[in-house]
Amino acid sequence: MSSILILNGPNLNLLGTREPEVYGHTTLPQLEADAVAYGAERGHEVQCAQSNFEGGLVELIHGARGARDGIILNAGAYTHTSVALHDAIAGVALPTIELHISNVHARESFRHHSVIARACSGVICGFGVSGYRLAIDAMQSLLDNRP
Ligand code: DQA
Repeated sequence: MSSILILNGPNLNLLGTREPEVYGHTTLPQLEADAVAYGAERGHEVQCAQSNFEGGLVELIHGARGARDGIILNAGAYTHTSVALHDAIAGVALPTIELHISNVHARESFRHHSVIARACSGVICGFGVSGYRLAIDAMQSLLDNRP
């Protein structure tokens, strides 16, 4: 059984009511419950956390070292700005998938660059909240193919 941390960053606690034309109507608790159930069906223990604070996300990433096998991270707006998150991901050296609900490349130009992508194993974006299920499948593949 693999243990996967799903970490959501700033403003993702507002899912369901936040810009539903961009992010849909699913709330964060619904999304998390679905991810836990989807992971369990595949033999994974999925744990979820959310923080609006950059330092809080850094600490949650640090806490995954030695405790989790991989991280699925929707860093929200910190994706585009946070060297601290990049360094935390690189520092714990766990397989990490960068995830976005929306297709950031079809949006404002300030969303086109990711500061964290270099430290991540791969990126999933633009598939709505089903991206979290895709990320669990992608993490399974990463973990199965670990050297
Ligand atoms: C997001 C995209 C980011 O640009 C934005 O700041 C978010 C959500 C997404 O899931 O599509 O907060 O990460």
